[in-house]
Amino acid sequence: MITLAISSLKGGVGKTTCAINLAYSCAKRGWKTLLVDADPQGSVGLSLSPSAQSYLGLYEIVASGTAFDTIVLKTKLETLKIVMAGKIPTNEISKWCASLQDGTRLAPFFKTAQEAGFDLVILDTPSGLHGPTEGILRSCSHVLVPQQCEPLALRSLMLTVDFLNQLQTENENACALAGVALTMADPDVEDTKKIVEEIRRVLPPELVFQSMLPRDAAVIHASMKGMPLGLVRGGAPPVISLVFDQLAAELETKLDLTAPEQSDEYVSLVV
Ligand SMILES: Nc1ncnc2c1ncn2[C@@H]1O[C@H](COP(=O)(O)OP(=O)(O)OP(=O)(O)O)[C@@H](O)[C@H]1O
Ligand SMILES: [Mg+2]
Repeated sequence: MITLAISSLKGGVGKTTCAINLAYSCAKRGWKTLLVDADPQGSVGLSLSPSAQSYLGLYEIVASGTAFDTIVLKTKLETLKIVMAGKIPTNEISKWCASLQDGTRLAPFFKTAQEAGFDLVILDTPSGLHGPTEGILRSCSHVLVPQQCEPLALRSLMLTVDFLNQLQTENENACALAGVALTMADPDVEDTKKIVEEIRRVLPPELVFQSMLPRDAAVIHASMKGMPLGLVRGGAPPVISLVFDQLAAELETKLDLTAPEQSDEYVSLVV
């Protein structure tokens, strides 16, 4: 089972958007996918349901030992399930975040997810590489870093890469960088082009996804409706929803996501 954190040093770069839509695209490709809201703010829940704050979630599973099966939420896709952040009491948030920092507390949760047959767990994390995110990076197999195409990008990217290298020096099982996904790109803006060129120049090509997520008002529209981009009805699918499908396909190859015993079943439409 692959455990993939969606993390970045900077806030507001599109982590939650990426976690939700990438999980949806991966599930559509047949991978049994668990989307986990590991951000105590509960951003996945807030993006998907007006009643999100009433859902139990990761907090109850990890901190109170509530059974995984009673918490995990079904979706319209049989292959996609969700664990929301949970109802974390305000006065417990800092204790909860601190308890995740060393990376050991999620191991039983991942074991249960693996036993439940998931191929892929995608975790939305809070911004920054410390606190709960640090613990998640210590316990996940991979991390995908969304990177906004803006002037500060390079600086924060290099800090992120250094931090991930340091984690791997301390512990060779720490997460590997699956890749950097460029987001909120305005392909017609000259400055964006320069930043993209610079990022592709300084990072090894295998660390930057080819799929580049455009800045697209459809993201706000989907978020207002509380759904992944791929579920929005009316007219042709927005370009960005197709780019998430491409990103999922790239990721699948990079992570060597294979289910050999089911390989025929995976490609077959009729089951
Ligand atoms: N490609 C895009 N085009 C247009 N708007 C976008 C795009 N991606 C994200 N947004 C918008 O940018 C804002 C931040 O996105 P998001 O919440 O996904 O970022 P985040 O990194 O999870 O933020 P935080 O650090 O607060 O958790 C949201 O309002 C979202 O709708
Ligand atoms: Mg977020």
